Parts: sequence; structure tokens; C-alpha cells
Amino acid sequence: MSDWAAIKENKQVGEGVYRLRLTAPAIAAQAQPGQFIMLRVSHGLDPLLARPFSIHGVDGDDLLILYKVVGKGTRLLSMVRPGNKTLSLWGPLGRGFNLDVKRPVLVAGGMGIAPIVFLADTLLNQGRKKLAFVHGAVTGKALFGGSEELRTTLLGRDLEPYLASEVEGEERYYGLIGVALEPALSSFPDSSPCGGVLACGPLPMLKAVAQICARHKVPCQVSLEAPMACGLGACLGCVIPAAGGGYVRACQEGPVMDAALVDWERTKP
Ligand SMILES: Cc1cc2nc3c(=O)[nH]c(=O)nc-3n(C[C@H](O)[C@H](O)[C@H](O)COP(=O)(O)OP(=O)(O)OC[C@H]3O[C@@H](n4cnc5c(N)ncnc54)[C@H](O)[C@@H]3O)c2cc1C
Ligand code: FES
Repeated sequence: MSDWAAIKENKQVGEGVYRLRLTAPAIAAQAQPGQFIMLRVSHGLDPLLARPFSIHGVDGDDLLILYKVVGKGTRLLSMVRPGNKTLSLWGPLGRGFNLDVKRPVLVAGGMGIAPIVFLADTLLNQGRKKLAFVHGAVTGKALFGGSEELRTTLLGRDLEPYLASEVEGEERYYGLIGVALEPALSSFPDSSPCGGVLACGPLPMLKAVAQICARHKVPCQVSLEAPMACGLGACLGCVIPAAGGGYVRACQEGPVMDAALVDWERTKP
């Protein structure tokens, strides 16, 4: 559904990273972890195309978005101030994560942390305990979107964290996300097997995660990022090579898909 949302907060929480709080009751009521919205990033007509953002959280009637400034649209969005103007959006869109997984391992690469927080919150609110949580970023500082607040909140919850960054030397940090994922898959205290990996991040990372899961024979759900112009299945801007030939639309058949349905050799980073 489409809506006009009041902006309650647009706060810088890390280097180039902002948290947006929008009041959108109808979308908030239906949002599932892994789903996204299409958001017009400014009050004017430029840029004309909306931008896709994962749902980072729901708080009553409010939707939370965690975003990084990478280009014109996100730069304009970072300048929007809370007040009486509204932004146009539509959603919730796409397929979210299947939550019916025993002993899930959550994996977030870089800004893939945005939807994984909503996923972790939802699973913990269902009563899950000691959720395995693998998170990687280019530097240790960039973990948690560079947000101290998010780091403190998340690490204060009932999670078993495995953190990976290319900067070595800190306790519990691992060189590569794969190196962090391996122990997460095998270290459940009661030795019960991991029932599935739920991952979001850049394509090369998702490819590595999919390969590790295939090796361990663990089901893997990946949330795919692709350029999106409509979010509604019409423009075909978001197609991803499918295993067995052809393509799937990330906005319709995804963004969360079974990793086995993707032809990783034909994906472009
Ligand atoms: C389903 C989905 C969910 C997303 N969720 C989030 C989120 O929660 N937080 C967040 O920060 N970003 C998220 N993104 C990415 C976000 O949509 C883009 O960063 C944004 O559209 C960039 O707009 P822009 O005008 O600032 O940049 P542009 O001017 O359009 O592009 C600037 C640069 O960023 C690159 N770029 C643009 N879009 C993407 C993309 N999707 N993936 C990789 N590189 C890209 C371009 O190639 C270019 O180099 C998501 C994307 C998808 C498809
Ligand atoms: S974004 Fe238009 S078809 Fe997917």
C-alpha cells in the first residue's frame, strides 16, 4: 500500500549512516522481517525514482530505516528534517525471511545489519534464546553501521555474537565473515544442528555464505540487493540469475530467497 509518512527523526548514528523514523501505521502493522519499502527521498521531484530500503524495525505506528549515504538520493534523504512535511512511500514489499527455522544463525554484512536487527528482535520477541549472530564489515568501526547505540543495544540482547572485520586484533573478531560463520555453525551449546542461515549483505558475501552453507548442508536464506526502480515487479530492473537458467525478480520472488535458487556464478557484484 502507498502512504504519506511524517518524519519523526532523521538522526546521524554513524559515519554517513542515519536512522530514519517515519510514521506509517498501515505499513508498520504488516511489516515482516526482510521486507522493504520504496521511499521517495525528497519533497521535490528530483530524483523522481523512489529508493528501496529494508525495514530496520517497527515501533508502534513508526517504521525505522537504517541507511548509508552512497549517492544523490541518500544524500538528499539525509537532509530531510523532522517537521510537518511528509515523504511518499509504498510497502511492505517482497518476501521476508521464513522464521520457522530451528537454531537459526543470523548473518549481516555491512549495511545488511539493517534488516537483520528487525529479524533478531522478532525472533527474540518470540522467545528464542542465545541467537547466533554473525556480523562482518570492512573495518571494526563500521560494524553496527558505525553506531555505538546500536552496538550496545544489540550486544545487550540474548545473542551469541561472532564479529568479523578486516582489521584484526580485537577479541572475538575474525578476519573474514566465512571464518566467523564456521564456528557459529558448529558451536551450539547443546550440539543440536543449525536449522538454517538467514543472511543479508553484499552479493559476494552472500555467495560465500551460500557456499559455506552448501558445504555444511545447512539451508540458507539470502536477502538480495539489486537496483530497483518500481519495487512492484513491473520494470525488471532487479532481475537476478536463477539456478537452472532464466532470472527472478528480487522485488517479487525476493528479496529473501533460498540461496539454492540463485545462480551465483552469473551474479554480478
Ligand atoms: C531490497 C533493498 C533493500 C535495501 N535496504 C537498504 C538499507 O536498509 N539501508 C541502506 O543503506 N541501503 C539499502 N539498500 C540500498 C539502497 O537502496 C541504495 O543505497 C540507494 O538506492 C542508493 O541511492 P542513491 O541515490 O543514494 O545512490 P545512487 O546515486 O543511485 O547510486 C550511488 C552508488 O551506489 C550504488 N548503489 C545504488 N544502489 C545500490 C544497491 N542496491 N546495492 C549496491 N550498490 C548500490 C550505485 O551503483 C552507485 O555506485 C537496499 C536496496 C535494496 C534493493
Ligand atoms: S524493481 Fe521493478 S521489477 Fe523489481
